[in-house]
Amino acid sequence: MNIPDIKTITVAGAGTMGALIAQTFAACGYEVFLWNRSQSGLERGRAIMDENLSSIPHERQSAAARVLLTMDQNCFRGADLVIESIAENLEVKHAFYRQIEPLLKETCLIATNTSGLSITTLSRAFAAPERFCGMHWINPANLIPLIEVISGEQTAPETSAAVYALSEALGKKPIHVKDVPGFALNRLQFAVLREALHMVETGAASMEDVDRAMKYGLGLRYACIGPFETADLGGLDIFCGISEYLFADLADDKEPQALLRQKKAEGKLGLKSGAGFFDYSGSRGAEAVAERNRKLTAISKILFEI
Ligand SMILES: NC(=O)c1ccc[n+]([C@@H]2O[C@H](COP(=O)([O-])OP(=O)(O)OC[C@H]3O[C@@H](n4cnc5c(N)ncnc54)[C@H](O)[C@@H]3O)[C@@H](O)[C@H]2O)c1
Repeated sequence: MNIPDIKTITVAGAGTMGALIAQTFAACGYEVFLWNRSQSGLERGRAIMDENLSSIPHERQSAAARVLLTMDQNCFRGADLVIESIAENLEVKHAFYRQIEPLLKETCLIATNTSGLSITTLSRAFAAPERFCGMHWINPANLIPLIEVISGEQTAPETSAAVYALSEALGKKPIHVKDVPGFALNRLQFAVLREALHMVETGAASMEDVDRAMKYGLGLRYACIGPFETADLGGLDIFCGISEYLFADLADDKEPQALLRQKKAEGKLGLKSGAGFFDYSGSRGAEAVAERNRKLTAISKILFEI
């Protein structure tokens, strides 16, 4: 299979993720188009990039500002790689793939930033599914090093290898994952969230204290060593013994828990609605995001030298 030298990238979808993905590539010197179907979507993308500019190293800010925003689908014609980051809906993504595939160069690779839709199922809209794979970025895309590279049944090994190598070239820390629901990150994230909600619902600890347990305990350690390294350092006999008495007591809900459903029903959706588990009204929302970005930048610099 002919793999292009990736120089020109078109990101489709100028939302929360697409805008920051485009900006990350531009900051690293790639030629980047950011496509959106509407002018208002492009304006939102521009605002997301502008707000984020200060979290990009100073010397890369002028390159980062070179993203070309457009509604013109001709931007797909010259791309070596298209990254699709539009609405998380199978039919919407399929319709989009059918529209753009005829415009692409024969060598162009296509990656989706889907959070969890099956790559194999998504690939069915393509005449050339071997050129398609998952490239799952984590929010905020420019600050979190992990990228999950997911191969579907039809993905050619050369395609996922090229997307993996590109992620490394960006200074990211990619992993290969099979096309399983939630890939790796969301399987881990939701195992933790299910248990966190269970602890609050059963009164074992408050939301604040569960967050503290993660931030000052597990989370900090996990930023340095993963669960397998942790178990090795702690002793596998100890971890086996704890598993024997603890597993039966851990959350095993098969549906979203009542507390989460209740917040959703009340319209308390978190940052975007001004309240969720905590309050983000007034300037609190912007302050919470700025504080998160400041800490992520500082810790990444120390731990990963990026
Ligand atoms: N938000 C996250 O934390 C996160 C993290 C990782 C991956 N993702 C995934 O990234 C993708 C985008 O998510 P987001 O959070 O940026 O969403 P968003 O709602 O911020 O942006 C989605 C974009 O898709 C565009 N869009 C919607 N319907 C469309 C259509 N029919 N045709 C073309 N464009 C259309 C919208 O104009 C918008 O610009 C999704 O697949 C999502 O699951 C999101």
